[in-house]
Amino acid sequence: MPDFPAGFRWGVSTSAYQIEGATTVDGRGPSIWDTFAHEPGRIVDGSTGDEACDHYHRHAEDTALLAGLGVSAYRFSVAWPRVQPTGAGPAHAAGLDFYDRLVDGLLAAGVDPVATLFHWDLPQALEDAGGWLNRDTAARFAEYADLTAARLGDRVKLWITLNEPFIHMSLGHGIGTHAPGRMLLFDAFPVAHHQLLGHGLAVAALRARTASPVAIANNYSPVRQVGDTDADRAAAQAYDALHNLLFTDPLLGRGYPDAPGLDPAVIHDGDLDVLAAPIDVLGVNYYNPTGIRAPEEGSPLPFEMVPLDGYPRTAFDWPVAPDGLRELLLQLHDRYGDALPPVQVTESGCAYDDVPDAQGRVDDPDRIAYLDGHVRAVHEAITAGVPVTGYFVWSLLDNWEWAEGFTKRFGLVHVDYPTQRRTPKSSYAWFRDLVRR
Ligand code: FCB
Repeated sequence: MPDFPAGFRWGVSTSAYQIEGATTVDGRGPSIWDTFAHEPGRIVDGSTGDEACDHYHRHAEDTALLAGLGVSAYRFSVAWPRVQPTGAGPAHAAGLDFYDRLVDGLLAAGVDPVATLFHWDLPQALEDAGGWLNRDTAARFAEYADLTAARLGDRVKLWITLNEPFIHMSLGHGIGTHAPGRMLLFDAFPVAHHQLLGHGLAVAALRARTASPVAIANNYSPVRQVGDTDADRAAAQAYDALHNLLFTDPLLGRGYPDAPGLDPAVIHDGDLDVLAAPIDVLGVNYYNPTGIRAPEEGSPLPFEMVPLDGYPRTAFDWPVAPDGLRELLLQLHDRYGDALPPVQVTESGCAYDDVPDAQGRVDDPDRIAYLDGHVRAVHEAITAGVPVTGYFVWSLLDNWEWAEGFTKRFGLVHVDYPTQRRTPKSSYAWFRDLVRR
């Protein structure tokens, strides 16, 4: 493995609903994911995040795993319904106490706390008032950011406003496979704009409370056009605008791209200035490229997704394509030039069906190969001049993978859910050695 620049940040990521459990403890309110997971048929194995990895009670053990890994940073998310059980009103102290303990434990272990404010677990009471379709949710989000930073702003080293607003819009509100389960297709655009407005307002709220840098974590997927008719080209452009440009162009001062579904009536005067509040870091979550061709006649979508041939595949059936990470980092650099802030890869990882052997060891050579390829792709991008300053593996632990329930394991650490026993996999040792070097 080639050398990385001094000060490069190595980390791992998780999110609240996927690991914490304790969903009714210490006054936490319900979130849209509690509601959704409890609806029959939503989650493939019928599971919920009620217990997840029980991290709420086991955070000290998990912090020890981080210390053993030697990472310089840990990206977790704050559950909004712990801080404001109904999404409004004063901070709920008992909820913030948990993050206070977590952050202090991380600092004592020499690990920088990196906090994401919204990783999809909207308080249910806000959903009942329209959720992200309602413009007021953006203002509520900024208020929550302020309350959280008032308590943790002196110790969190990097703030991330939103996680993957594209995925929350498209899966949560476009096709309904994620909470809150709405199927609006392109009528979901207000969810994009209101999340980005909330991001901009939260940036301002955070600046007033903390000197720590502020970021957003977007999901990116380089588009591989399949077929070469004009219609295929138009389809690839439409998908690229929706997935890759819609949530980045307005933040970096370019306004909205020409993307399907964009509704100018939702954008009020002055909004674009709020969205373009300078950020210090752009978080990049990358899993795989997307194959796109022209849709069939009569399709409600202006593109069709097609599986990409010729790649190894993960247990999620996602193609393993480290070249896509280098490609997207170079594309960001080419498109935004000097307007691109330093980039940190805030999620990168893979699911495999990891099973302990007779001795209880979990050997996951496929994950090691995956991470090795992606870390090298980051290095190539740095060599080509892209300012990448960090890389976070998704995820520290096997955890509750949204609509896939417990069926997809992404961790460097295996979790036996019935006993909550943690077993570091061989990828944990591999990543520890990489970080050490
Ligand atoms: C990302 C999510 C994260 C996890 C990984 C596999 O889209 O941000 O919570 O589910 O995918």
